[in-house]
Formats: sequence, structure tokens, C-alpha cells
Amino acid sequence: MIVRKILKYVLILAVAVFAACTGKTAADPLSQKVDSLLALMTFEEKIGQMNQLEGWMNADKEAQIRAGQVGSLLNVADPKEVNRLQRIAMEESRLGIPLLFCRDVIHGFKTILPIPIGQAATWNPQLVEQGARMTAEETVQTGIRLTFSPMVDIARDARWGRLAEGYGEDTYLTEVMGAATVRGYQFSCANNPINDSDQIINGLAACAKHFAGYGASESGRDYNTTWIPEILLRDVYLPPFKACAEAGAMTMMCSFNALNGLPSSANQHLNIDILRNEWNYDGVLISDWGSGSDLIPHGLCADKQEAAIRCYQAQMEIDMEGHLYEKYAQQLLDKGAIDRKRIDDMVRNILRLKFRLGLFNQPYATTETPEYYSQKALDTALKTAQESAVLLKNNGILPLVNNDNKVNILICGPLADAKKEQLGTWIFDGEPEHSVTPLMAFKQDSRFSVAYEPGLTYSRDTSGEGIERAVKAAKNVDAILYFCGEEAILSGEARCRADINLPGAQCRMMEELAKTGKPAVMIVMAGRPLTIGNEVEKAAAVLYAYHGGTMAGPALLSVIAGDVVPSGHLPMTMPQMVGQVPMYYNRLNTGRPATTPMLINDIPIGCPQFSIGQSSYHLEVGDQPLFHFGYGLSYTTFEYGEVDIVESVGKNHDSGTERQEFSVKCSITNTGKYDAMEVPQLYVHQMSGELARPVKELKGFRKIMIKSGESVTVEFKLTPDDLAYWHEKWKGKTAEYYRTTDPADYEVWVAPDSRCLTRSKKITIH
Ligand code: NOJ
Repeated sequence: MIVRKILKYVLILAVAVFAACTGKTAADPLSQKVDSLLALMTFEEKIGQMNQLEGWMNADKEAQIRAGQVGSLLNVADPKEVNRLQRIAMEESRLGIPLLFCRDVIHGFKTILPIPIGQAATWNPQLVEQGARMTAEETVQTGIRLTFSPMVDIARDARWGRLAEGYGEDTYLTEVMGAATVRGYQFSCANNPINDSDQIINGLAACAKHFAGYGASESGRDYNTTWIPEILLRDVYLPPFKACAEAGAMTMMCSFNALNGLPSSANQHLNIDILRNEWNYDGVLISDWGSGSDLIPHGLCADKQEAAIRCYQAQMEIDMEGHLYEKYAQQLLDKGAIDRKRIDDMVRNILRLKFRLGLFNQPYATTETPEYYSQKALDTALKTAQESAVLLKNNGILPLVNNDNKVNILICGPLADAKKEQLGTWIFDGEPEHSVTPLMAFKQDSRFSVAYEPGLTYSRDTSGEGIERAVKAAKNVDAILYFCGEEAILSGEARCRADINLPGAQCRMMEELAKTGKPAVMIVMAGRPLTIGNEVEKAAAVLYAYHGGTMAGPALLSVIAGDVVPSGHLPMTMPQMVGQVPMYYNRLNTGRPATTPMLINDIPIGCPQFSIGQSSYHLEVGDQPLFHFGYGLSYTTFEYGEVDIVESVGKNHDSGTERQEFSVKCSITNTGKYDAMEVPQLYVHQMSGELARPVKELKGFRKIMIKSGESVTVEFKLTPDDLAYWHEKWKGKTAEYYRTTDPADYEVWVAPDSRCLTRSKKITIH
């Protein structure tokens, strides 16, 4: 063993010296290390690096690790097991290349943050970055060094269960949140023990997923086909991936869906033309679980060997539990279907990732008894949950605590004391026993006298047996807190719904509670926007809280009591009815925008064909959502002043040529009695151009604290590049794509939500 080790290091050194003397490799030390190691590897060992296996162990898999046939494992989370397997790779394999342990750590490892759609509702990228950093610090102790997160798929359809894992419908918001998450995960320690030129990351490698277009699945059904024109793909779906790449995301994951007929694992246009050639991305592209072999049911390949070729051609470097490269690479090499040099390039990316994670120096879990739930971690989870709650309605009942009197409340609903459910989807490692539920939090607070009657035992409960008890208990209280929504299992992967109402007998329960005449505050803990129009009408106040994680209970208590003023804003439009989806604020206007729609019951019997007008809406609900993107109330009120725009001449960074620049300023006054955070949002609309453009587009936002009575001026910068979009020009049968800004007039708003009820100003791009 010792002789083998010495031989290995002598070999590495020899190759490194050779490389340095001959100048045959790239000059930087990291590339030299990678090339030196690559030069020692057999073809089988190289393919091993491309092979990612599920971590349930058996003797065969251990033998594969020993033989250098496995590069990474997913789903090993016990540090002892990580170390045991890593020892096999380090000490018993020929070259001792460390394994990379990967896991879906989506919104917290042990200390669970709100689900990502809830994090997006904070509109606070600094906080989201802090949460990701906390997550990485908890996770890396175990030896896991890559998380399959962030998911930056744009979701415009509330039926799609996976929207819970992303940042909503807007490209810009998702770009900002995705990049913040990447930065948070991939932290570097200042006093890095290892050579700085390796650009060492001490945190978790991020994986931006699912590349690309996955969120546009037809009918919001998971894994379903997506049809996205190239210009829409480039304007809406790809920028968040580019933002993550620019923030340094070390890996990306292929999506399951067929995009315009071509699944991502075989999509050379996406993976090579765009990712590698246009964006110069040198990270690692990982398949989704078996997405390579899925090329067979997709109807692209006749068998696995063909599937392996298509994945290789599309430069998918790591095959997650697909066993394609593992089984067929050698045969394909023998046949001449794959090329050694190209495999080398793919493996180089993987080795670079491992070097940059410092795995060769520190391959093991830092401790076998990790510490979780530090006060700092819990505070981060608490703050994020507080800021993720969106106040949708308030008739004045909130905040509940106004003076020294004890408030008598009834706590009810299936989510009031549901430790597991409040954690949300994708919490492999989260421990419900650490959750603090709303019931627990309120019971511990002496300002409240609490009666508890759940009414329903879980969100899908249709029995309604307990509703009567809850109604009875409501008779003696000052206010009802109704914690309703969805159980965690109803959103996330493959959890798509055709009906997005509150499930079970929850609507009935709201009706019965409202009949008591007591003010009912509805707190919705769900993984998606729900169609709750009827219930909102009956409620005295509505707080949309998503699944808030470990600290959901204390967070909701602080907002409801008034210790914290709500500051969340919707990252997704809330439709009135499921038939309206896909529904999103940045739609095109159509040639026949709805004016005053005549609804179904207003249409006279026997009405002639054209008498009810010719505009774009649904007969049952018109064209408006229940709540708009960006919407969110506060306990205070804010007044927006006139937008003030100053134009100047600046320079383009790359070319040095002159360009227009706009400083957009707006003064916002807190006219209420609470100090509070506000989210001014910058929207634009292009008034004419080569193509029809969205009615509004978010181009910037801030999250700022404004004290009661104070005014704060926010400033945004706009350049023509911010207004550019992808154009398509056809020459015969060939289309040409280019991104440019149309010379045109643009309307500009600074507003509290996407309705943009504030006055706009016009700018002109020459
Ligand atoms: C399938 C999911 O689509 C993906 O998001 C996840 O990271 C992998 N499985 C690994 O669990």
C-alpha cells in the first residue's frame, strides 16, 4: 500500500515537472495539476469520474469505488459513512482520487429555511445569500460538497409542483436570487490553507438546475414536454442560468423535459452552442437522475448504447445513476464512436471541480459529530421566514397586539401544529422534531390566551368532523387564526395539481369560521399560489406564508403580533381560477386587451355573436389575477413620489463607445405609524419596436427600511443594454438570432407592485 502511494506521488510529480518544462499544458497551476493527474489515468478511470452512483452501498459498488470506477456519490449523508467510503477511494484505489459526495440540500440541511419560492418572497437577496451560506456551513461538516441547488426554472403555471423549489415567474428576480444562492453556498475562507491559485471553495459546489426550460411543462405536469421559441428561451428561461454561471456556479444539471422535441441530456444546442461556446462555461454538466436513459422512453434512442452516445455528444459530463458511460463507454471507444481527447476534456472539468473544492487535501467530513441548529442558523431561518410572509389582506385586525391586554385567540387549521408539513418539500435531512410550530410559539407567548381546535387533522382531510368543535371554540375568542394550506407532499417534484384550491374540507372550514362573526385571520402555508378568492373574501386578514421551515411558528407569531412588520411580496401571480394559468405579469398585451369584460352571467340569453365585445379574457373571471406579481401589504402605508429621470452619457464597458444612461429616482415616504421595510420595484414597458414587448418588465428592486414619517429616495440605473431583448430574423428557411435594444420610447415606473399604479415617465432610446 505504502509503496503504491509513494509511486503515485512520484508519478504525479514527474508528470507535473514534465508538463512545466515542456510547456505542454496550460500555464496556470490548477490546470497543471489537472493535466498531471489526467496523464496518469486509464480510460476506465476517466469514465469512472463521469459515473455518479446512488449511495446505498453493496459489495459490488464498493469494489467499483476501489477500482476507480466511481467519481461521485449522491445521498450519503452520514459523515461516518462518507469517511468510510472516502477512505476506500483515497487509500485503496490506484490513484486515490477523492469521491465527491452530492445531495439535494434545497432549502437547508438540518436547519430548514422557507422553501425557495418563500425565500423569493423576501425580495431580500442578502438574506437569501446568508441562508445559503448557513446551509453550506451545516452541510460541509458531513463531507457533502455539492448540492443540487439552486433551481432557477421560471414557473408561470401554479399547477407545477416544482415551482416550490424555485424563485417564481420572473426572470430578473430569479437571476438575482439564483446568483445570491450560488454565492452563499460557494463561500471561500479567507485563511485558506491551500494554494490560492486553485480558487478554493470551502463551501458547497452549487448546481444550477434544470437546464433548461423545465418549468414551462405543458399543463404544469412534471417531466412534460416544453415548447419554447428560441427568443423566449433566451429572454426568459436562460438568463437565470447565465447569472448563476457568472456568479461562479460550479455545476449545472440537465433537465428531464424534451425542449422543442429534444431532451436536454442530448441537446447540443443548449449544452454546447449556448452553455460552452456562447457563455464559455467551464463547470461540470450533470445529468438529472437517469435522464440519459430517459432518452429511450422519450423516443430519441433505441437502446442505452445509443443514449450514451447522444449524452456524450451533448457533453453531459456526469451521468447520475444512469449507468450509461459506466456500461458502454469502452464499447463505444472500441467502435470509434467516442473520442479519447474529448473524454479527456470532459474529465478535466470534473477534476478541476474536485481540486477547486480542495478535496485532494481535505476529502473527509470535518467531524463525525457535526453541530447543527446553532443560534445563528436558527436566527437566519427565523428572519427569512418573517420576511417571506406576504400580507395579502388586512381589514385592520392585524397586528393582533395593540395594547397590554391579553388577546384571546383560537388557533385552528391543519397546519397550525404540523412539524413536518411546515418544513416543505425536499427536506431529506430536516428533522421535524426541531420544528417550532405556530401553536407552540403562541402557547409560549404570555400576550396570548390560546384555545386550540385543529378542525382538520391534515390538509386533505375531508371528514370535517372537527370543524364543529373549532366553530364552538371560536365563540369565546377575540380572533381566529386559521392555519391552512397544503401538506409538504403536495408540492415539489412530480406533485402537480389540476385543482389548486385549498385541498380537503379547508374551504368549508373557512366558511364555517366566517359564519361565527369572529374575525378570522387566514395563514396559508402552501407550496404554490392557491386559488383562494372566496376564502380571502371571508377572512379578516390573509397572510401567505408558504412553507416556512424550522422557525415558521415564531416567525408567524412575530408578524401576527406586530413585533415584525410584514415585508414579503409575491414572486408569482396568484390566479383567481386554475383555468387562467399559465398566468404571469409580463405577458404581451395582445391586439385586443380586455377593457370591461362582460362575464358569463351578464350575457343576455340569445345574445348575438359580436355584442359582448371582442377582447382577451375568460368569461368566468375576466383577465385579472387574484393578486398581482410583486404585491404585498404592510402595517404601515407608503407613498410614492414622482419618478425623476436624468439622462446622461456613459461608456460601454467592453467597447468604450458612448451610450445613454438613465438615473431613475423616486422618493418613498412612510406615511403610517410603523417603521417598516418596503420593496420599491422598477418596471419598464417598451412602447413600440420590432416585436411586441411585455406590458411590464421588472428591471430592478430594493429592499429598504423606512422609518415612520421618513422619506427615502431610491435610485436605479438603466442603460440601453437593460432594455435589450432577443430578436429573430428569417432569411428564407434560416433564422438569425441577436440581442439588441430597439430605438423607441419606454415607460418607466417605480412602484410597489407590478400593477404600477404610480405615474410613469417616458425615456427615449435613440
Ligand atoms: C431528480 C430531480 O429532478 C433533481 O432536481 C434532483 O436533484 C435529482 N433527482 C437528484 O435527487
